[in-house]
Amino acid sequence: MERSSISLEDLPGIGPATAEKLVEAGYSSIEAIAVASPADLVAAAEIGEATASKIIQAAREAADIGGFESGDKVFERRKLVGKLTTGAKSLDNLLGGGIETQSITEFYGEFGCGKTQIAHQLAVNVQLPESEGGLSGSAVIIDTENTFRPERIKQMAEGVGLDPDDALKHIHVARAYNSNHQILLVEKASELAESLKDSDKPVRLLIIDSLTAHFRAEYVGRGTLADRQQKLNKHLHEVLRFADLNNAVVMVTNQVQAKPDVFFGDPTKPIGGHVLGHTATFRIYLRKSKGDKRIARLVDSPHLPDGEAVITVTGEGIRD
Ligand code: GTP
Ligand code: MG
Repeated sequence: MERSSISLEDLPGIGPATAEKLVEAGYSSIEAIAVASPADLVAAAEIGEATASKIIQAAREAADIGGFESGDKVFERRKLVGKLTTGAKSLDNLLGGGIETQSITEFYGEFGCGKTQIAHQLAVNVQLPESEGGLSGSAVIIDTENTFRPERIKQMAEGVGLDPDDALKHIHVARAYNSNHQILLVEKASELAESLKDSDKPVRLLIIDSLTAHFRAEYVGRGTLADRQQKLNKHLHEVLRFADLNNAVVMVTNQVQAKPDVFFGDPTKPIGGHVLGHTATFRIYLRKSKGDKRIARLVDSPHLPDGEAVITVTGEGIRD
């Protein structure tokens, strides 16, 4: 999707004060407004419902989104889909050539299986030119568990021949303190992407590590599960919108929980249940193997065969 060159104030009903409130709330582009709900804008800018509807309608016309697309247009957009290398050929092959943009890719598995290591590797790899499996872009990391390690980035950058300090400059990290903050940071990420879109390193990767930890900690007990799922669902759709608008890779991590009612097969399942299952376009289940080896299994992919790849976590990063 092309970003339009007109600004918010060109839309009817938006004066400077309203524009400022909208931008503050994360609605920094015409596209973001075009896909918002009237209630979202009412809350964000303290305007009436009718005005909000009018603004959204105008934004949809200006941005040329919101209706049906012909198949050839979808085809055109899909042609722009980029692929990001994981550092391991076997895993790239399993994914059909790398992690796709315009999608959400979920890595789930138990503690220490390498989810955060892969996240670090992608934040480095995205900076590589396309000829080397990158997207010539910057990375945004929403870190919910305080596990981002710049030293590790430096090692991995050296591993792919990038200047370590330069690599760190193109990774934007924010710590999320709770689920509301995490949701807000996606809006902030959109603003950042907007401001970098014409730079030599536009944002092409969003990482949320971990996607579910705060939600899991804050919503305890059966009665609150529906609320949690609803909120997580909305969050994921905002994340998917980020992926589409920026032609970006979105990588999220998720832990597993024990399934007490399973007696045969693998007694664990990813947290988040069906909402996440339907929104994540690619799901990869990581398991520990011998030593530094990890087994990555592609689960329920719509257009790729299920299969497994063995990867290694080395000092230089993720390898075959
Ligand atoms: P949780 O966030 O706790 O759910 O785990 P995770 O899946 O994010 O695990 P993480 O990616 O943090 O993996 C940690 C593992 O990576 C360690 O147990 C090590 O096996 C490996 N690892 C981390 N740093 C290095 C390193 O510098 N060299 C090597 N060889 N392995 C490393
Ligand atoms: Mg981790």
